[in-house]
Formats: sequence, C-alpha cells, structure tokens
Amino acid sequence: MLSKAVQTKLNEQIQKEAFASNAYLAMATWAESENLPNIATFFYNSAEEERLHMLEIFKYINANGGAAKLEDKLGKAKEKFKNVLEAFQQVYDLEHNVTVSITELATWCQQNGEHATYFFLQAFVLEQQEAERNVREIITVIERMGFEPRNLFYLDKQFKKINEKGEQ
Ligand SMILES: [Fe+2]
Repeated sequence: MLSKAVQTKLNEQIQKEAFASNAYLAMATWAESENLPNIATFFYNSAEEERLHMLEIFKYINANGGAAKLEDKLGKAKEKFKNVLEAFQQVYDLEHNVTVSITELATWCQQNGEHATYFFLQAFVLEQQEAERNVREIITVIERMGFEPRNLFYLDKQFKKINEKGEQ
C-alpha cells in the first residue's frame, strides 16, 4: 500500500508527464502547419511516449492501493515557435524539467524509505538521461544543417532517420 505522501508526489508527476504530452501535441500541430511532416511525426511519437509514462505511473498508483488522478488544470502549452531551433530548445526544457522532478522524487523516496517506488522510478531516471542526450544530439544536427527556410526540406528529411532510430 502506498503512503499518502508518495501517492501525492506520484500524482504530481502524472500531471507533468501529461503536460509534456500536450506540449508535444501542440508542437506537432505547429510542425504540420510549417510543412515539416517528419518533424511532426517526431512530436507525435514523443507525445505518445509521455502519455505512456503517465499511464505507467497511473497504473502503479492504482495497483498499489492508491488513487491516481489526472487534474484538469495542466496549463496551456506553447503553440507558436520562431523556428525549428526554438521548438527543440523547448523540447530540451520540457525534458529537463521532467528530469529534475523525477530526480527529486527518487531522492525523496530514497530518504523516506519508499524503496519499492524508488525502484519503480529507476527506469524513468535512466529514460530521462537518454531523452536529454537525444535532444542535445538533435539540437546539434539542427545547428549544423541549418534551419533557414532553404535548409528545412533536408532538415525535415533527416528526421526520418531520427524517427526510425527512436522506434528501435
Ligand atoms: Fe516522460
């Protein structure tokens, strides 16, 4: 049975994962409107991934005697970006914020004897490390290929490879 305190903290994490999923969907809409179909696919895939993280925590809470809850006040995600680089800088910020909160949560569990939840969170900790590494790599690709209008066709094409790598 999960303690009330750990339930509250896990529920807070659910809201963050859900917000990240919404933020990625808003970015997908932006990418579609900019005629960047492969970049849009990257955002759709990321939205789905965040939703899966949310679901995993949701089910963990409910399976262990708690009550998972998705609040209706997630906040509004950003919908407009100056360019692809700015969009991916937001991706980095999103992922980094999740990393910070997952790390804080894991530390709290460790210090409060919540060993099972601490163990449960380890996969999330490692996944965040990977997510941040991937975004940094993508930002390097964007900076090297350029994101001026004349480069966008090739940059978007490059995301085909990035998306395939993500599916493995
Ligand atoms: Fe996540």
